[in-house]
Amino acid sequence: MAGNDVLNRANKEKKDEFYTQLTDIEAELQHYTHHFEGKTVLCNCDDPYESNFFKFFALQFNRLKLKKLIATCYDSSSVAGEQLSIFPDKHPYMIQITEVTDENGDGAIDLADVEHLLKNRKNVIRRLKNGDFRSAECLSALKEADIVVTNPPFSLFREFMALLMQYNKKFLIIGNKNAITYKEIFPLIKENLIWTGCRGFAGGMWFFSDYEGKTEKIIGGKKVINVPSIWFTNLDHHKRHEKIDLYKTYSPDEYPHYDNYDAIEVGKTAEIPCNYYGIMGVPITFLDKYNPDQFEIMGMCENMDLYGLKTRIYTSEECKQRYLELFGKNGTYDLNAAGVVNGKKVYQRILIRRKQHENKTP
Ligand SMILES: C[S@@+](CC[C@H](N)C(=O)[O-])C[C@H]1O[C@@H](n2cnc3c(N)ncnc32)[C@H](O)[C@@H]1O
Repeated sequence: MAGNDVLNRANKEKKDEFYTQLTDIEAELQHYTHHFEGKTVLCNCDDPYESNFFKFFALQFNRLKLKKLIATCYDSSSVAGEQLSIFPDKHPYMIQITEVTDENGDGAIDLADVEHLLKNRKNVIRRLKNGDFRSAECLSALKEADIVVTNPPFSLFREFMALLMQYNKKFLIIGNKNAITYKEIFPLIKENLIWTGCRGFAGGMWFFSDYEGKTEKIIGGKKVINVPSIWFTNLDHHKRHEKIDLYKTYSPDEYPHYDNYDAIEVGKTAEIPCNYYGIMGVPITFLDKYNPDQFEIMGMCENMDLYGLKTRIYTSEECKQRYLELFGKNGTYDLNAAGVVNGKKVYQRILIRRKQHENKTP
């Protein structure tokens, strides 16, 4: 089963048990160190005993000069409270860490260290009703937090992001690549309220999981499966200020105009022409390279004309007729769902334009 299939099935079945590798967290977090000094970090989908997010911040607590680390774990998490000798029964709980001392000096955070952290009277643990990130108890932790860092349940990504926006929180979270095109998420990207992280889009990410996956392997004796995932954030980072080098020159032959948008089709981000200042349709992976000083996002090719950029809306008769022409049988070719070039739909496209203040090259 390919990464996207795994994800679709997980969404459908509301299965969310994909656990992030410490190496992936370290690789991304190294770009944001300066954001964390004096801050309260919340990992609100994270059982300390299974979550590498908790592990990362506990390990890095002093180096990052954190004020506080809060982790909450969910009722249905496979190991919620299971390994915690403090509670005799399996139960969701919240841990708040304000001091990390490396008394055993081995530099490792493991089960013993979590219990060790909890022996420090400055650090507290308490039971939660259910640990749902939307519950009143978790929302009060969210209000207190400065930065939320986690991999939330894929099936609740929209709701998770809506809460972060509602409470005006800084965040760095993992989501699936498709989330870019959600109608609740894309407008936030368009308005530069959120953006993607430093890790490149290619290759997906490997998560510990018991799910079946076509693309799976074993790391450290545990199964990992590949899911097309990226980081989403509203913390600034260096990569989004790097300019894309433009080397191609515009010609109408090489860059056809859409039939239904006043824009040209650019099949690869690397081929954005250096001398074109109108609207261009580019692949979604453009966001991996997007620099808001160089380009503005105008909208996306989609069915509902949410961004008011369509120049033509096809009738259902035209969609049926086109299907017949292309495939020789009855059906509907949904021309309104995409950018159309010479009567054929192209892949999903984001509509962008160069910023006017850039020097215009001849
Ligand atoms: C994709 S996993 C990631 C776990 C962990 N954050 C990590 O990265 O290793 C999402 C986690 O969210 C938990 N979860 C599911 N629904 C939740 C909810 N409503 N509130 C809080 N956590 C939830 C799942 O049990 C699962 O452990």
